[in-house]
Amino acid sequence: MRTLLVIFALITVAITPPFMAAQKVDLTVDVSKAGAKIDRNIFGQFAEHLGHGVYEGIWVGPGSPIPNTRGIRNDVVAALKAIKAPNVRWPGGCFADEYHWRKGIGSQRPETLNPNWGGVIEPNTFGTHEFMDFLDQIGAEAYLSVNVGSGTPQEAAEWLEYLTTAQPTALAKERAANGHPAPYKIAYLGIGNESWDCGGNMTPDYYLSQLKIYSRFVRNFNPAQQDKQRMLKIAVGPGGGEPRFTEWTEAVMKAYQNHQWSWDIDGLSLHSYTVVRWPPAFASVGFGEKEYSQILKSTLEMEGLVSKYSAMMDKYDPQKKVALVVDEWGAWYAPLPGSNPGFLVQQNSLRDAILAALNLNIFIRHADRVRMANIAQMINVLQAMILTDKEKMVLTPTYYAYKMYAPFQDATFVPVTFNAGVYTQGEITLPRVDAIAAKDSAGRVWVEITNVDPNQPVEIEVSLVGITPKSAAGETLTAPKVDSVNSFEASNTVVPKPISAKVQGGKLALKLEPKSVTVISVEQ
Ligand code: AHR
Repeated sequence: MRTLLVIFALITVAITPPFMAAQKVDLTVDVSKAGAKIDRNIFGQFAEHLGHGVYEGIWVGPGSPIPNTRGIRNDVVAALKAIKAPNVRWPGGCFADEYHWRKGIGSQRPETLNPNWGGVIEPNTFGTHEFMDFLDQIGAEAYLSVNVGSGTPQEAAEWLEYLTTAQPTALAKERAANGHPAPYKIAYLGIGNESWDCGGNMTPDYYLSQLKIYSRFVRNFNPAQQDKQRMLKIAVGPGGGEPRFTEWTEAVMKAYQNHQWSWDIDGLSLHSYTVVRWPPAFASVGFGEKEYSQILKSTLEMEGLVSKYSAMMDKYDPQKKVALVVDEWGAWYAPLPGSNPGFLVQQNSLRDAILAALNLNIFIRHADRVRMANIAQMINVLQAMILTDKEKMVLTPTYYAYKMYAPFQDATFVPVTFNAGVYTQGEITLPRVDAIAAKDSAGRVWVEITNVDPNQPVEIEVSLVGITPKSAAGETLTAPKVDSVNSFEASNTVVPKPISAKVQGGKLALKLEPKSVTVISVEQ
């Protein structure tokens, strides 16, 4: 009887329409229509003095047995070069508004405190020169956040003079004595961080008066940056969708519209984390499909925020001179059990790679206004690219998503139309598929397609207007489970694998695995 039941069950499985039947999605990529340039800075990074983000993550010191160049980990440098990290925001975050740069130069570095993040000792061994050396090693540009909360305009102005002047001033001589005679290039300057909260709890009016002073006096003197390579100044903007942030954004943008020659801004920041509720309660590993869909639903709120603030900025800046700079975003989960809660340590799963792709696609679709974004944070903190443990290093699923997206840096957006379909989990309904496309400077077309559905594959048929495709191939990132991670012991669970498309009647056909991120390039 038991045998019969098993046979019956097997036959039923065989004749039932397959559970894994692929959904079909038609996608049209219109290569004849060029949109905005996808600024490479959308793929920017953020490194705060927080937990092991800098110390151990980047800096191990020249005497460390961990292979390093002037104290900076070689493995981390190689990994960041491979994703072409375009810029790094530093030294914070909330830390920036308590950072005094003089403590991080020269041979005598005092030990100070890091009250924001665990109250630990800040050794100041990683300071200005070490940060600039690190950037040089990875080939990225500097995005410095100056201290508006507890510093002074003079302190910030002197930091910039120290960094950038070519004249033989006392500060330039001090820079040379500390090992760098040539002026540094500082590409981006953040004037404060979350000044409506940890950066000093300022009102919009109070912040505006500070912004004008810092914008006026914190000058970049580098002779190579007086024209085209001008340092871009980024003001503190909203931190979510609450009414107080509407008021804040209105105030800054209205002031910008009426600004005089003596001050200016080039960017307005937006901070928005995927957290669902505070304090962060979602687990970063060991979760199921319910939490997968809840987090992805929450992350898609980024679209509403970017649209809302872009529209507000259009009102005061129709020429789109001021960029919307999403310089803190990413998933913020509960701290890993046993970790210091002030260190914001979390695992990084396949869900995070999908979350990253969905957000990058939102930024890319708004590339005319969003010209920089910085995921929080680069190493060992929140939605990290890289996790380290002493001499060990592991690359996260989010890292691989960034690696796959590298061809989109500075490419030109081209429109994609498709009927996304839906994926439903309990009360939650999400678009099943997301996609973007771009053309690079060599004329190659790149298409990214995310299959959000964790259960069903998707058969995609791609029509390309304006080109005749010969072939298409690329990489796809998926894993057995939505919470699959790369660990120090098993570092290759979530890694990209090759994928190719069939060419049929001038169209491309490819099958996407459930819960996957895929990037293909099209040969014509
Ligand atoms: O990224 C962690 C913290 O989140 C930053 O220091 C702060 O700006 C934000 O609130």
